[in-house]
Amino acid sequence: MTRIPWWRNAVVYEIYVRSFADADGDGEGDLQGIRSRLGHLRDLGVDALWLTPFYRSPLADGGYDVADYRDVDPRFGTLDDFDALVADVHAHGLRLIVDIVPNHSSDRHPWFQEALAAPPGSPERARYIFRPGRPGERPGEEEPPNDWPSAFGGPAWTRVDDGADGAGGGEWYLHLYAREQPDFNWRNPEVHREFEDILRFWLDRGVDGFRIDVAAGLFKDESFCDLAGRDRRVSNGPIYSRPEVHEVYRRWRQILDGYDGDRMAIGEVWTDGPEDLALYLRPDELHQVFQFDLQLAPWSASAFRDVIDAAMKAVAPTGAAPTWVLSSHDSIRHLTRYEHPAGIPGTERARAKAALLLLLSLPGSAYLYQGEELGLPEVTDLPDEARQDPIFERTGGELAGRDGCRVPLPWSGEAEPFGFSPGGVRPWLPMPPEWAPMTVEAQASDPSSMLSWYREALALRRRLADDLPEDLEWLDSPGGTLYFRRGPLTCALNCGDNPVRLPSGTPLLTSIPLYGDLLPGNTAAWLRTP
Ligand code: NOJ
Repeated sequence: MTRIPWWRNAVVYEIYVRSFADADGDGEGDLQGIRSRLGHLRDLGVDALWLTPFYRSPLADGGYDVADYRDVDPRFGTLDDFDALVADVHAHGLRLIVDIVPNHSSDRHPWFQEALAAPPGSPERARYIFRPGRPGERPGEEEPPNDWPSAFGGPAWTRVDDGADGAGGGEWYLHLYAREQPDFNWRNPEVHREFEDILRFWLDRGVDGFRIDVAAGLFKDESFCDLAGRDRRVSNGPIYSRPEVHEVYRRWRQILDGYDGDRMAIGEVWTDGPEDLALYLRPDELHQVFQFDLQLAPWSASAFRDVIDAAMKAVAPTGAAPTWVLSSHDSIRHLTRYEHPAGIPGTERARAKAALLLLLSLPGSAYLYQGEELGLPEVTDLPDEARQDPIFERTGGELAGRDGCRVPLPWSGEAEPFGFSPGGVRPWLPMPPEWAPMTVEAQASDPSSMLSWYREALALRRRLADDLPEDLEWLDSPGGTLYFRRGPLTCALNCGDNPVRLPSGTPLLTSIPLYGDLLPGNTAAWLRTP
């Protein structure tokens, strides 16, 4: 039998490090906190963990602004803590993926500080993207070099402060995200060497893979032409998915393949078409890319079917396995997205339970986001002064930003900090008092809890895994439902509000008890089919 690499059908659990578990009592999660909670992840039944950035950082964008790629931020621990975590993760039979952020650094990174202190045209500035501005409408005025927007609002360029000595030279630097996140210049071989070395640094410490942040963004069109009304994410446009980026991942793949033990890389690639996505998945490039389609789809059987078909079709020519995700640290939690438009209470929970069966029965790998196993909703009423996502500030509060899905996890007890931090410590984001019944402790021994549901579904997926083909076959599906089969497993999802007849098979797991052979609305079932 051919050996299937672990990541092809893994269930990967995303840990937003700052919000998972706080061992040292500073109100922010840390590596020791993760170590202390590995039992939860083993009992949950996932295969691998993905850690969001824990590197030295001023946290202007939650750690996606890295000041030192080879060290742990003191808030999160030390390199020794990291080594101990890798050993413990492996001892628990889990794998570890870490985030790598190659598109931009922090403005506190020594390279950027050196660039600011050096004159235009210097080798220090050549590690980032500095350009002269354009003349403004009125004499003496200056505008950014082009019309590119920052993903967080406002222009993607900031003018260097010239200071009293005029040392800035009047240049602007590019930042596709916050102004504290200057973009690297990937046309400079020094940047390539640096990142190859960073990859080896973490591979040597035992990581099993990387999640590559903004993977499609590294190269920009050298002409720096205006977007002129085009979508900024358009593939092979001036900003994203330029052909040059693939050489980087070919090289990275060679590095990963030089290590034993199936090391892998998954790219955060936003593309506008399956052809472009497939390029990243060529056999000598990335092992996986995130396919966000399910996360973007509304609660609708036909929408789900369309995105599943499209996602499977997109990866089919490459031979790679698809990836599925419902929530992440960048999106509104799916439990909240699935609220019934007519406000029928409890629907969102029923749908979240059903969605798990859909997610876990699709071929490929599933990425879970911390807290979904507890049925956590988005926190929508955070006070303005607590919000830390740059999106909130940069849009003048027009967009709430992503803090609502980053509220620390409730572990135990009746009140904040719910075991997230040692007693008496205030977590970095306030935790809703209504979370008391949702702690891990409260749910662990309750067979009807969301946590028990996740454990049961994950355990069953694991038991069935070896018998499931890498493809799926659609079955006749009554309106509003999605029925499909993978070998001995049939998944039936009813997105409507009314009961429908189940497909044939012996029920193995249902998200709400069945009425005879009827599948209630907003429910899913797994059935064994001969
Ligand atoms: C994607 C990350 O998931 C997000 O959190 C971050 O803000 C941007 N990339 C920029 O690094």
